[in-house]
Amino acid sequence: MSANANKAQVKLPNIKTELPGPKAKAVVEKDHRYVSPSYTRSYPLVIQRGWGAIIEDVDGNHFLDFNAGVAVLATGHTHPEIVKVIADQAAEFVHIAGADFYYPQLADLAEKLENETPGDFPKRVHFGNSGAEAVETALKVAAFARRRQKYIAFFNSFHGRTFGALSLTASKSAQRLGFGRAALDVTHIPYANCLRCAYGKQPETCNVECAKVIEDRLFKTTVPADEVAAIVVEPVQGEGGYVVPPSKFLKELRRIADENNIVLVVDEVQSGMGRTGKLFAIEHHDVVPDVICSAKGIASGLPLSATIARADLMNWHVGAHASTFGGNPVAIAASLKTFELLNNGLLANANAMGQRMMDGLRKLQEKYSTIVADVRGLGLMIGIEFVKDLTSMTPWAALRNQIETECFNRGLILLGAGESTIRFSPPLVIDEEQVDCALSILDEAIAASLKVVS
Ligand SMILES: Cc1ncc(COP(=O)(O)O)c(C=O)c1O
Repeated sequence: MSANANKAQVKLPNIKTELPGPKAKAVVEKDHRYVSPSYTRSYPLVIQRGWGAIIEDVDGNHFLDFNAGVAVLATGHTHPEIVKVIADQAAEFVHIAGADFYYPQLADLAEKLENETPGDFPKRVHFGNSGAEAVETALKVAAFARRRQKYIAFFNSFHGRTFGALSLTASKSAQRLGFGRAALDVTHIPYANCLRCAYGKQPETCNVECAKVIEDRLFKTTVPADEVAAIVVEPVQGEGGYVVPPSKFLKELRRIADENNIVLVVDEVQSGMGRTGKLFAIEHHDVVPDVICSAKGIASGLPLSATIARADLMNWHVGAHASTFGGNPVAIAASLKTFELLNNGLLANANAMGQRMMDGLRKLQEKYSTIVADVRGLGLMIGIEFVKDLTSMTPWAALRNQIETECFNRGLILLGAGESTIRFSPPLVIDEEQVDCALSILDEAIAASLKVVS
């Protein structure tokens, strides 16, 4: 594909070779020889280039990308305005170390983040490069501000794999296996997953036991309230299966945090930057957190993270925390443009396309009513959960994995989340034709998988 004009016209998948094709096969073999075997590849997609929601692989096949590099490419692949600001900034300067020198972009993005995040109070922003770094910073902010050492987090949550963030992560045992005891003192409790309520309640009539357990059990037994620095929560559980909690859960966490002088940290690494149809998912719940962690979509694919905290909390001494690369000016240029694009159309598109996707998935849920336990989501953060049957509700991981593979073979890029959920986190630039195409491939893939897996 040479001319950009022709490129933009390709909007749907087209698979021309066996998968993986010959060039992809060679890359995969070399990668397996040299790259860390801890990476979690589900199938052999080897990208050459991308535009919008389309990926061209090294063999010339076209895929429809409904994963967006794990919810990162909010504005799609190579959005021309993002590419332009990256090139323009790179021609000026690419690095100087924001921790040691000044440049206007760093303060500009910090100001933007204060204005665009919930909470009408002064904030301070610390910049890093990854989601895990944003979380590490939040943990240090809370520990320093409160001079306390304990944390409360949730089972099935994912907050990163560095030692501090890993102490919070309770997603898969493979992430902990072999690394000894947790670095931080974290107590995990079940998340507000109403489909599988740990307390056997119904969301309409429950007493928010999933939050109240903090007061009723933890504070009275193993976790004295005045030793807790922070409660850390995802406003939509991401890696845990795209689980949307009821607002009353997050409101209750806010109350408990307030009454006990505990910092409420919201991890928006996956759910933020327009993914749910609002800039930050916590806005759906009308709760104002003390600290927000942002990464992934914040710079349309460039490595950048931000920890945005109440100014009175991020009130530490010179040298307390910093990063050489955090707040890289090229990434910041992409981030400022990302905010502009989100506010000028992409949020609205995420809502409209999210609704179309949900409607289509609900039809598939009716069609495959015995094995689809749930279709849930906000905006373009949507999950479909597969089970062996609706009575036992046993997660059907083998079927989910087969569906992922069948979708790949038909040119649709998806990834799983949780035990048996497929997540949809496409670029926010997708259009109706692409949504309909993804739904029809998924339909075919489910039918094909049911013949293979039993
Ligand atoms: C909610 C959440 N927090 C933190 C992280 C860690 O981000 P990173 O992989 O950039 O360190 C992730 C990654 O998936 C995430 O989904």
